[in-house]
Amino acid sequence: MENNLVTTAYIVASALFILSLAGLSQPETAKRGNLLGILGMAIAFAATAAISQGYPIQIGSIGLGVLVGVLAASRVAMTDMPEMVALLNSFVGLAAVLVGFAEYLQPSAALSGGDVIVHRVEIYIGVFIGIVTFTGSMIAVAKLRGWVPSRAVLLPARHVLTLGMLGAIAALGFPFLTATGDVPMIALGAMTAIAGIFGIVIVMAIGGADMAVVISLLNSYSGLASAAAGFMLNNDLLIITGALVGSSGAILSYIMCKGMNRSFINVVLGGFGETASGTSKTAIEGSATSTSTGDVVDLLDNAQNVVIVPGYGMAVAQAQHAVAEITRLLRSQGKQVRFGIHPVAGRMPGHMNVLLAEANVPYDIVLEMDEINDDFPHTDLVLVIGANDTVNPSAKYDPGSAIAGMPVMEVWEASTVVVLKRGMSSGYAGVENPLFFNENTLMLFGDAKTNVNGILAQLSTTNAPAPALSVA
Ligand code: TAP
Repeated sequence: MENNLVTTAYIVASALFILSLAGLSQPETAKRGNLLGILGMAIAFAATAAISQGYPIQIGSIGLGVLVGVLAASRVAMTDMPEMVALLNSFVGLAAVLVGFAEYLQPSAALSGGDVIVHRVEIYIGVFIGIVTFTGSMIAVAKLRGWVPSRAVLLPARHVLTLGMLGAIAALGFPFLTATGDVPMIALGAMTAIAGIFGIVIVMAIGGADMAVVISLLNSYSGLASAAAGFMLNNDLLIITGALVGSSGAILSYIMCKGMNRSFINVVLGGFGETASGTSKTAIEGSATSTSTGDVVDLLDNAQNVVIVPGYGMAVAQAQHAVAEITRLLRSQGKQVRFGIHPVAGRMPGHMNVLLAEANVPYDIVLEMDEINDDFPHTDLVLVIGANDTVNPSAKYDPGSAIAGMPVMEVWEASTVVVLKRGMSSGYAGVENPLFFNENTLMLFGDAKTNVNGILAQLSTTNAPAPALSVA
């Protein structure tokens, strides 16, 4: 009876997780998706707790986990979210490693014959994926925080080294599965150490520009690690949730690779095929023309078609609310205002969409890069707000550029482009941007929020309804 109830609860929780993922795929339904996920997790937890022993330890550890999770999640800045995700991925990896060792030392079920071998295979694979996820994620956090160089760090003969490590990991599996006494434990420990170094080496070899894909890929690995833990513990729900995270993370990584024109296989194999990036010899000539908020207001007054292209700087400045106000004002004057979103604008998938949704920008004017790129030649004015790499023409025209081949927002095709940023510094990929020197580009220097607020204030005054004439 108890088992039937638990099975039913697991099925309900699994269905809620699937519905949650479906909800999270659209900004309109994302909140509902989140709630369904929380509900699924609550049911899953209650059902698991009902069949477990050791309540004091469970309640204590879960209470501590909830406290740390709530504090961390409520304090983290939106721009630090990738580090947070990478850190959480590393915990899942570490958990799979610990479950693997615990299962080896004290199996949760009595096994005999072929089942022992199957169980050891599950442990070996689970620990391998878990430790690669753990060390790889820790390096990703260190890269994003700037504790280690974010550029690709390529060891000499790294392909031989990587293959050697993979060979050793495969070879150690044999004594782990077949030997008796202390040998399997020694083999498991040695494999864990080598796979840990393997995780470090492959993520170190990936350049900063690919880090977003790596985080999403490690997220996928963390799903596989959970699924492996599910096999070890014979827990169907863990297998299902692990498979959901694993597959959705892999699909997201693929979509991001497409958005950045990176080879998925190269990223998966940890920098294999990575060339020395940034070999561009093309010097940028000319000078940038700066402008003022007053001039931008004039440009907006005269424009009929406006496209706003936000990037990481809009997130840092938290300018989205003022940008949304400007949009409402211009639309109320009958102008066409739309947003163009690059798939990797900002620092996490959907970063810009989340900010715009938070500022209540209507979803139907938020277009993806592919939907808007052909419209730039017919656009009067583009406002680039804190975006840089994602609007860099060198990706299209300079084969030596570190971001060569990455599809970008072709804003330079518009009649006039205004770029809002604080100075001339490069973006995430560290590449100079020739857009800033184009004849039809004006630079509005300063913090994006301050400048957008300045534009909004002047637009509101110049467009305020004229005071009614008093009739004497
Ligand atoms: P970036 O190329 O990173 O450029 C952002 C620009 O914002 C900077 O050049 C900076 O210039 C400006 N900025 C910063 N603070 C500002 C402020 N307070 N006010 C005004 N401007 C400010 O941004 P992007 O175009 O969004 O491109 C994203 C990059 O991040 C891509 O290279 C992408 O591959 C990478 N990435 C993306 C993700 C995901 S999944 N989205 C994850 C990790 C990495 P100033 O310093 O001169 O102001």
